Amino acid sequence: MRYFFLAIMLLQCSTYLAAENDNMAQLEVQAKQLSAQLGLQLKARLQAAIKEGGPANAIAVCNVSAPEIAAELSKDGWTVGRTSLKLRNLANQPDAWEHETLLTFEQKLASGAPAAGLQNSTVEVDNGEKRYRFMKAIAVDTVCMACHGEAIAEPVQAALAEKYPHDAAKGYKSGDLRGAFTISKILGDE
Ligand code: HEC
Repeated sequence: MRYFFLAIMLLQCSTYLAAENDNMAQLEVQAKQLSAQLGLQLKARLQAAIKEGGPANAIAVCNVSAPEIAAELSKDGWTVGRTSLKLRNLANQPDAWEHETLLTFEQKLASGAPAAGLQNSTVEVDNGEKRYRFMKAIAVDTVCMACHGEAIAEPVQAALAEKYPHDAAKGYKSGDLRGAFTISKILGDE
């Protein structure tokens, strides 16, 4: 009889764990979709603005569009944004978990892992509130060079200096880790 109860308890436990795993997998799918959307929408708006008036013009667009697109995607309990170890906009400062994750991404990239596969997730309880968190690496490619590369044109430099006096997001090479998408969802009270 005792074993019977034990078996039932174990069964309940594993069903609970399986449901929890399913839930995590679902959250990860959604988080990945949100980071992909943020990436694609930003790139599309950036390329259109560069085409229209060059990179110096696109800075103003980026300055307004990036937070705007992130805000549009932040709904149904989700928060969507970008962060980096070398910031242009100080509002994108990483917190402790993000900082740790970015350092791990740097290490993995340096040891040859492809940037596209770098991601991390966790569930955090803060002040009794449970939160799912997800990060996905952003690599630098040729589109980024005009504003984050090693040789930034004079008018672009001037436009950047005017808006971002503490800009540290320059001097990147193609393939470097630029930062990460950072996505989270409030799961409710613990
Ligand atoms: C036209 C210039 C321009 C181009 C091209 C550009 N960026 Fe940026 N980037 C900016 C500006 C301006 C900001 C600050 C946006 C803000 O105020 O939120 C920024 C911020 C960021 C941030 C947020 C972290 C931080 O430093 O504040 C990331 C990540 C980023 N860019 C990645 C990229 C990537 C990846 C590419 C290439 C696909 C790219 N950028 C191309 C101008 C540019």
